[in-house]
Amino acid sequence: MFDTRISRRSAIQALGFAVAWSASPLRAAVDAVGKLPVPGFVDALIGRMTLEEKAGQLTLMASAWGGSSAANLNPPGNGQGFDAQIADAVAGKLTGVFNGQGADMAMRMQSAVMKRSRLKIPLMFAADVIHGFRTIFPIPVGEVASFEPDLARRTARAAAFEASGAGIDWTFAPMVDIARDQRWGRAMEGAGEDVLLGEVFAAARAQGFQGESLSSNDALMACAKHFAAYGAAEAGLDYNTVDISKRTLFEVYLPPFEAAFRAGAMSTMASFNEVAGIPSTANKWLMTDLLRDDWGFEGIVVSDYTGDQELIAHGIAADGRDAARLAFLAGVDMSMESDLYYLHLPALVRDGAVPEALVDRSVRRVLATKAMLGLFDDPFRRIDPKREKARSMLPAARALSREAGRKSIVMLKNEGNLLPLSKSARVAVIGPFASGQHDLIGGWCVYGSDADAVALDTGLRAAGGSITVTQGSGVEESLDGGIEAAVTAAKAADVVILSIGESQTMSGEAQSRAQIVVPPAQQALAEAVAATGKPIVVLLKNGRGLALQGAVRDAAAILVTWQLGTESGNAIADVIYGAHGPSGRLPISFPFDSGQEPYHYDHKSTGRPNPPGPLQPYKAHYRGIPNAALYPFGHGLTYGNIAYSALDLGTGKLAWSGEITISATITNTGSRPAEEVAQLYIHDVVASVTRPVRQLKAFRKVALAPGQSETVRFTLRRDSLQFIGLDMKPTVEPGEFRVWIAPSAQSDGVSGSFDLVAA
Ligand code: NOJ
Repeated sequence: MFDTRISRRSAIQALGFAVAWSASPLRAAVDAVGKLPVPGFVDALIGRMTLEEKAGQLTLMASAWGGSSAANLNPPGNGQGFDAQIADAVAGKLTGVFNGQGADMAMRMQSAVMKRSRLKIPLMFAADVIHGFRTIFPIPVGEVASFEPDLARRTARAAAFEASGAGIDWTFAPMVDIARDQRWGRAMEGAGEDVLLGEVFAAARAQGFQGESLSSNDALMACAKHFAAYGAAEAGLDYNTVDISKRTLFEVYLPPFEAAFRAGAMSTMASFNEVAGIPSTANKWLMTDLLRDDWGFEGIVVSDYTGDQELIAHGIAADGRDAARLAFLAGVDMSMESDLYYLHLPALVRDGAVPEALVDRSVRRVLATKAMLGLFDDPFRRIDPKREKARSMLPAARALSREAGRKSIVMLKNEGNLLPLSKSARVAVIGPFASGQHDLIGGWCVYGSDADAVALDTGLRAAGGSITVTQGSGVEESLDGGIEAAVTAAKAADVVILSIGESQTMSGEAQSRAQIVVPPAQQALAEAVAATGKPIVVLLKNGRGLALQGAVRDAAAILVTWQLGTESGNAIADVIYGAHGPSGRLPISFPFDSGQEPYHYDHKSTGRPNPPGPLQPYKAHYRGIPNAALYPFGHGLTYGNIAYSALDLGTGKLAWSGEITISATITNTGSRPAEEVAQLYIHDVVASVTRPVRQLKAFRKVALAPGQSETVRFTLRRDSLQFIGLDMKPTVEPGEFRVWIAPSAQSDGVSGSFDLVAA
């Protein structure tokens, strides 16, 4: 089964992050950027290759095998038929294909290549296995709400187990882009707005996909994407320009990539965007100077889908040949989908515009990667139709999906302890997501099926709930008579569950939204249902942070349920009826208003911060709304009642080469069990460069029975406090640091300060 081995890394990770990441044993354990051994035969093989065969090894195309939903996840391809694609593979024009379907397809292609091609170099099969293969887990940002990196490691492992069984060698995941603007639809695909979560989840997911050994037939090569700063798109518009300082790049957007590479991720994907005038795909500083020379990354760099060709639209390449030259010389080893490398690299070499030695270097990386994946030993290592079936949707995977689902749910509000509901309560389940198997698994599923997903009403009934179901509204359009039917149903019930929010196609690639609100048709439904006076539990379906308004914001209880995957309905029922308490915390802030975006808790003070309390003139704030988030990063309630007390900072001094242990007591004063996520934040009070008002440095999830107290201890060292200094190098400065152990980025919890003492 997929999770029988407990590695040293995962054992460490299971403890949570009580030690700041930069000083954590986990980071030390994964501190070797993945090495790529090059077997002896590789150079001899390269010596036998024509320039065209070399360019073929640097060319990856979408699978031409028809009928998959993959076709909808990218712009249309070249329309090539499957037989023609096999012929290309046999002719050495391809290194592999992506988003194909199943072991039968892979078997046909690989057999053809191994029997009929000149050099018999195995193909490599790639796919977007983002949050599950056939068994689907919560969308990535939702899963991060668990604040359990080990859960993400386990779901990535399970996805790798299923996908590798179906012939796949390489996943285009994890997506490790920080998302500080919730208008950006791809916020759903990463780890949210925080750098620490970005790092630990990037590492956990990379480890999960790759397992103990890349050559194993249950491992997928991970691809940390999109390198880099894709999430910093201006105005949250997907693919848009990025223009950020190098300091922000190094402090915020790059650390999750470094973490993924330290965890062994052997590939990365160039992002579509430009950074300060240079598109990533043509950015030599990013792809070579930083990635290779400074970080020592040895794996492969693939372009994003037609990313090289898009250098023409960016306005820095004159034509396809120019685009191929720019991308290749910048350090992008492999071209995805445009075919530009195959079409132009041989002539570019012959004309002296690209040194053949550089082509050989990229081909060496690709062949060594295929060797690392075990493909030269056995090209059919992951291709076995029987194994594909035997590994698909096993009960243990479904159970993991249910566990991940319920741990991803975040309770924002629970006035009067409305939740958990009693099973004898008459519940009107209302809204476009009240029933049906649509919009449960999430938008980034090439291989998952709605038909396998557990609908909300199915889950609630299976738990023994007494419910009625009324659709009430479409997702973005009203329904004739919908509101009237919903009001009637609400009146006949004791309590309403309002299942509303975004469909799964409203977030994801190319799905930016200017207004991050519940669509107006559903808002109207919520207002009408609220007017009945019945208590309302809002179940939000969302792929991003939302600005909640009116009756939705004012409902007695609000649960964030993202898109939870195959076991969605059961996972929600587990929490609604109290079999499990809610334990998730927001990895992204919910602002008061869309206009606050980009919003992130770790913002700077400005020279005119508004002091706590009413809005003051000539201070940094909008007219009429607070600067804060409505629900901040880190927020999430439990069915218990948690109190923070007794901050202990020891001597209050952190010696230059020492450690400081910071502890607090957390107590469940409530009458139900709770899982609390204690979060340690710091603020550097005076530094030579302005510092965020707060930064998460460590966290720990603790289970507390009613009445139980526990002391949570965190350890910080000097390197936890570092930033990019005036000289653009990592710097630590002595002085005062404020510290909080708190239940969210906006809560005071318990706080104090310590001094970092100069050597
Ligand atoms: C474009 C997306 O940006 C990338 O994340 C994905 O892996 C490729 N398409 C391939 O589907």
